[in-house]
Amino acid sequence: MKLIKLLANLGYGSRKEVQRWVRAGWVTDAGGRILKETDLPPHADIRVRGEVLDPPSPLTLVLNKPVGYTCSTDDPGATIYDLLPERFAHRNPLLHSVGRLDKDTSGLLLMTDDGKLSHRIIHPKSHCAKVYHAVLDRPLSGEEAAVFASGEMMLQGEAKPLLPAGFEALSEKEAHVTLHEGRYHQVRRMFAAMGNHVVALRRISIGSFSLPVDLPEGEWRIMDDDDIALLFRPLDSVRSSVPPSGC
Ligand code: URA
Repeated sequence: MKLIKLLANLGYGSRKEVQRWVRAGWVTDAGGRILKETDLPPHADIRVRGEVLDPPSPLTLVLNKPVGYTCSTDDPGATIYDLLPERFAHRNPLLHSVGRLDKDTSGLLLMTDDGKLSHRIIHPKSHCAKVYHAVLDRPLSGEEAAVFASGEMMLQGEAKPLLPAGFEALSEKEAHVTLHEGRYHQVRRMFAAMGNHVVALRRISIGSFSLPVDLPEGEWRIMDDDDIALLFRPLDSVRSSVPPSGC
């Protein structure tokens, strides 16, 4: 029964459906030998209708999230699960996003079925700095670096000041912001508090792991142990600088 449970937990179908497939001979080993319900060869040797099996849990993915997709499981509109194979939405344990990106934010989104890993990445004590590229509606004021770094910045409706955040001006209306926490719409609200408006926001890195340049929007890739280790490697330097002249 372990084979049935494995396939059902990977989202291939209900236990009943999967059992029917096994009985129909659709599940084989790498050499094409038909597997019985009582067989359980190594994961990498199992095939379903000739296809290599999806990776087992724990599984962590990096997704290049496009604008227009929510990170929720139950949104009636487009969700990040629409960007994954359909059966991934039926895995047990389920893949969830590590923190959230707003519907209008694009870029690096991690998905994992490893609750401990996701907790470690999100927790401010892990110092997994998250870097965002923001495009603003109006020129930077020149005050942003000091205010964001102060550790005293308050967002509307909140009782606790923000942790110090990094800021690097890239042009008159573009900047990198580095966060060590993840409050609701945080980057947008930080700029709103400065009298500005974010017109485009993209997450580009977490720790020393950057969104792979060869990963097209809407696509995903499995992360290996080296990628995951990079999430916990601090950025080379604290990101802060004076805005360019004219700001
Ligand atoms: N800050 C925001 O405003 N939105 C995000 O999606 C992430 C950080």
